[in-house]
Amino acid sequence: MVSTATKIGNFDFDNCLMNAAGVYCMTREELAEIDASLAGSFVTKTGTLEARDGNPEPRYADTLLGSINSMGLPNKGFDYYLDYVTELQNQPNSKNHFLSLVGLSPAETHTILKQVEASDYTGLVELNLSCPNVPGKPQIAYDFETTTEILTEVFSYYTKPLGVKLPPYFDIVHFDQAAAVFNQFPLTFVNCVNSIGNGLVIDDETVLIRPKNGFGGIGGDYIKPTALANVHAFYQRLNPSIQIIGTGGVKSGRDAFEHILCGASMVQIGTALHQEGPAIFERITNELKAIMSEKGYEKIEDFRGKLNYIEA
Ligand code: SIN
Repeated sequence: MVSTATKIGNFDFDNCLMNAAGVYCMTREELAEIDASLAGSFVTKTGTLEARDGNPEPRYADTLLGSINSMGLPNKGFDYYLDYVTELQNQPNSKNHFLSLVGLSPAETHTILKQVEASDYTGLVELNLSCPNVPGKPQIAYDFETTTEILTEVFSYYTKPLGVKLPPYFDIVHFDQAAAVFNQFPLTFVNCVNSIGNGLVIDDETVLIRPKNGFGGIGGDYIKPTALANVHAFYQRLNPSIQIIGTGGVKSGRDAFEHILCGASMVQIGTALHQEGPAIFERITNELKAIMSEKGYEKIEDFRGKLNYIEA
């Protein structure tokens, strides 16, 4: 019997596939649709201290090879999402979920996380260190000093399971430096990767989205090789207690299989979920199971991280 069940920290999931933060997760209604699908879990839209309208529209566009977005963290405020995941947590037979959060400054991030620490929510939190779309706010995880400072402070008061959503890194030295930072902390997981920040897509002579004169995060087919490289680079470098969630360019069972082969314990779907809707989880689960069955794998642990290299 082939199973795509998985575990992150002490939390069990019947399926290793779920949405990526930003897609199908703005409202309770959207989250409930993901919850009712074959997805093993959902992650909320990244919640900030106060609700935000985000950037002006058009701020998302599908392209032939994926998508570009500069949403600018529109969300209903972190307490909206905290209330919902806490409510679900208290229901019998509920799936386990991820609450995505970040402040617009380190001080705001600490204010939010202190409230989550004091709350009844005991589930997983994903701290988003990688949003490329808020004008004037850099992607935090590209600044290793600030990231170290934030995580040092966070773990002085935060005791619940916490992971971080990372931007893609592109240099072996940066993989080494980033892993050295994350290995200092009792993180439950890292999620690789957010969109490739600040790309530009042009139609005829005009940019596709309005914010930042068209600059936006790139998702979809464009980013799968970068996502796989980040998943595998961190799989090779992080303490085994820090698990990896793979995100980027997943639109088939084969893509999910490759993320797991590179070391992912869970796989998130962004652009393709936006394009296809929550029925995608059934299709990709069936495709992944068919590949596993063909190869004689019964569970994802049978091949997770077992990427082959070409020996001399
Ligand atoms: C956004 O709201 O701009 C996207 C969120 C993200 O990339 O972290």
